[in-house]
Amino acid sequence: MDAASIRFMTEDDIPVITGWMVLIPLWQRYNLTAEKINAQFEKALKAQDILLVADVAGYPACGFAWCLPGGTFGRSMYLRLIGVHPECARFGVGSVLLAEVERHALEARQDLFLLVSDFNMDAQRFYRRHGFDQVGAIPAYVLPDVTELIYRKRLMA
Ligand SMILES: CC(C)(COP(=O)(O)OP(=O)(O)OC[C@H]1O[C@@H](n2cnc3c(N)ncnc32)[C@H](O)[C@@H]1OP(=O)(O)O)[C@@H](O)C(=O)NCCC(=O)NCCS
Repeated sequence: MDAASIRFMTEDDIPVITGWMVLIPLWQRYNLTAEKINAQFEKALKAQDILLVADVAGYPACGFAWCLPGGTFGRSMYLRLIGVHPECARFGVGSVLLAEVERHALEARQDLFLLVSDFNMDAQRFYRRHGFDQVGAIPAYVLPDVTELIYRKRLMA
């Protein structure tokens, strides 16, 4: 698979990304429907959140990352969601997106935080490999039977 290039999301990307997001079991478990995802992205675009998209030859908009500067405790970047099209996973697209997220966090002089589900072992391994540490846990925060693990990557000295 060719290398991914990263750009900002536009409105035209939303249906493309929604089309494959609904196939991902993680988001099915969180009851994310196409309607909900569309509405969230539309709102995030209007709010000027940081919305990044990855393109790979033959797979436009096959990955995205959604970040909120100051979204953690009003002082650190919050990586709200990151995802890669199932057919493009494990080819490095997520790593390229995460590197770009870190660049934005550094530009804003902020550390980076995210929540990851206790059962999402693949994503936990992915984040640890990229230098994140678990710094806390929130039981039954989004779903009653799931603990959200708080991960932090220290970027600022
Ligand atoms: C988690 C996720 C974003 C990672 O994206 P990705 O593009 O698969 O990530 P990468 O390819 O950069 O790295 C993932 C793995 O592929 C491996 N990899 C990287 N480049 C590779 C390549 N060229 N060939 C084969 N394997 C490769 C990495 O070593 C890594 O291995 P690991 O699983 O043991 O850590 C993606 O899998 C995903 O969308 N998952 C479902 C949604 C989700 O869980 N989101 C996070 C919670 S919000």
